[in-house]
Amino acid sequence: MVRSIGILTSGGDAPGMNAAIRAVARACLNKGIEVYGIEQGFKGLYDGSFIKFDRRSTRNIINQGGTILRSARFPEFKDEEVRKVAISQLEKAGIEALVVIGGDGSYHGAMRLTEMGVNCIGIPGTIDNDIPRTEVTIGFDTALNTIVEALDRLRDTSSSHQRCTILEVMGRRCGDLAVWSGIACGVELIVTSEIGYNEEKIIECLKISKQSDKKHAIVVITEGITDVHALAKKVQAETGFETRANVLGHMQRGGRPSARDRVLASRMGIFAVELLEKGEGGKCVSVVNGHLEGLDIIETLSKPRETDFGIYEDARKIR
Ligand code: F6P
Repeated sequence: MVRSIGILTSGGDAPGMNAAIRAVARACLNKGIEVYGIEQGFKGLYDGSFIKFDRRSTRNIINQGGTILRSARFPEFKDEEVRKVAISQLEKAGIEALVVIGGDGSYHGAMRLTEMGVNCIGIPGTIDNDIPRTEVTIGFDTALNTIVEALDRLRDTSSSHQRCTILEVMGRRCGDLAVWSGIACGVELIVTSEIGYNEEKIIECLKISKQSDKKHAIVVITEGITDVHALAKKVQAETGFETRANVLGHMQRGGRPSARDRVLASRMGIFAVELLEKGEGGKCVSVVNGHLEGLDIIETLSKPRETDFGIYEDARKIR
């Protein structure tokens, strides 16, 4: 029987992380398990920056964006000696298991700790929706809605000025934020690395839009594919559309979590504690066919994320 659990949030913050922290903490306290918040992700684990939680520690946070535990990117954690120090900090505090809330990098940290004998459960917290073997991650829904609001606003000004607007959204290597928001807002073009980047095709498509007497056009593109400001200049020069580029940036990572993210995070937090209670470490909480499952974290990370190409196909059909 696990007696003491630590929680940390790591990597890019995501709306709903606080709801997950709260659920883990409450589920532990209800079962008489001690619970510690670990500040600043794996960095705080290394520094021994632990706060003992009681019920009040997670009051009034379910509706807050960001993470009360704060987050950090801590590449030093790849070093085994650094991880040994972190494990000795856990031993000193009597913490027997960990819940790690974060994205890809955080899962790798949790996997390494699992290999070194610490029971860890990963909860997928990232706006990118890029974790293998889960249909959705905490934060994706809120970020998507933020992007939809931005695109709706851009549509107003784009159509008033009869312009082409290019919006770059986050996602790292994953185009889900672009494709979902693109469909939701009926944009002319969605560009992601899954679809592939073909500048000639983009320009051709916008030329056709312009010639067909369209008054404005919107392009949504995943970050890291091209310099959107340079693309805007080319589009303007070659299509006749006056064009502006916007980078939405960190705006899409903050904000109050949507109801869907709060519920997902709360359920995942409870599920993580139940797994640890059963003595099951080295797992991650995933949504599979709409249900929560605890999957092996090492196996999960050894597989590439399966892209749902159906949605990309649909996006093309309804353009
Ligand atoms: O992983 C979440 C994410 O927001 C990515 O979409 C983005 O590429 C990255 O984090 C930005 O990281 P940072 O805030 O460290 O610049």
